[in-house]
Amino acid sequence: MTDEMDEPLYTRDIDLAPIRSCRLAIVGYGNHGRSHALCLRDSGVAHIRIALRETSPSRIKAEADGFEVVSLPEAAAWADAISLLAADEAHRLIWEEAILPHRKPGQALIVCHGFSIHYDLIRPPADADVILAAAKGPGGAVREEFEKGRGLIGFWAVHQDASGQARELALAYLAAIGSGEVGIFPTSFREETVSDLFGEQVVLVGGMVALAKASFERLVAAGVSERMAYIDCVHEIKYLADLIQARGIAGMYEAISDTAEFGARQIEDKIAGPELKRVFDEAMADIESDRFARKWVETYEAGDAMVADRAADRALRIETVGAELRDRIYGATK
Ligand SMILES: NC(=O)c1ccc[n+]([C@@H]2O[C@H](COP(=O)([O-])OP(=O)(O)OC[C@H]3O[C@@H](n4cnc5c(N)ncnc54)[C@H](OP(=O)(O)O)[C@@H]3O)[C@@H](O)[C@H]2O)c1
Repeated sequence: MTDEMDEPLYTRDIDLAPIRSCRLAIVGYGNHGRSHALCLRDSGVAHIRIALRETSPSRIKAEADGFEVVSLPEAAAWADAISLLAADEAHRLIWEEAILPHRKPGQALIVCHGFSIHYDLIRPPADADVILAAAKGPGGAVREEFEKGRGLIGFWAVHQDASGQARELALAYLAAIGSGEVGIFPTSFREETVSDLFGEQVVLVGGMVALAKASFERLVAAGVSERMAYIDCVHEIKYLADLIQARGIAGMYEAISDTAEFGARQIEDKIAGPELKRVFDEAMADIESDRFARKWVETYEAGDAMVADRAADRALRIETVGAELRDRIYGATK
């Protein structure tokens, strides 16, 4: 990577003028869309419009937050820059049907995940700055950290620099959503996309859920009550995740009992054996080629919203037991 990799930039190093002087349309008002819009406005970006589809349930929330809501074609014709914060799988259709035919010449495109650019789902014309401004983490956390005077760690990349100012716009955008308080690093669209997809597939979501489900079933098969099995294999994940986030893996090991540490060290290498390596290699090959991306976008565009998978999950005992437990602990199903 570049020298800049080890040297993050901070708000004090960054001129916010490129984003403040911009007519900015934010497409989507979900987790990231809402947080970005509120933070950008608080950072002095005066001209923001929220672009939503006709039937959007988010319109009420955006208007209640004091934003003007427009259609996607209206936004495309008005904005100097579009921050595309809609679901990645919808980017191709949004771009081709609602933005490209109406697009103001020279308009910049900003994304906070490299997916649709890296996999060539969107091909902006040569007059566009194409920028990645990724605040790493869930959208809600962008706003929560900003309100504490902080931000999520930021990564920027430039895919196309038509204006010669794309880097400055990326940095200004990230600083305005708080990332400049904790550090902004350069990346590439490829690096951010591959890393994000791999991390969520094999650890944060797929890996964690697979371990939770299989371990719950194994404990129950050993005669342990479902309630106890749920607590030990699902409910307590948060405490360990919080420890790792705050203190690192070594710090987590130091914070837990020696019995837990000794037992974990016996099994770590067994879990990370040849079968895990095979699964990881396969996931990486699907991500590095466009196989995963193509399959997902085709599934979405065919109208499959994973309804059957979600219903099947809801019917699992692990879910019923978890809901009962949350009712007991928190007084309401979370
Ligand atoms: N950098 C990071 O670490 C990070 C982390 C998480 C997410 N992200 C990225 O942030 C972006 C948004 O994610 P999110 O978590 O904010 O998603 P989200 O909460 O699910 O919100 C998605 C938004 O997209 C809109 N949308 C979906 N399909 C659409 C369509 N066909 N036409 C128009 N609008 C449509 C939804 O509109 P309605 O309100 O009308 O339903 C909603 O407002 C994605 O690119 C995602 O990869 C980045």
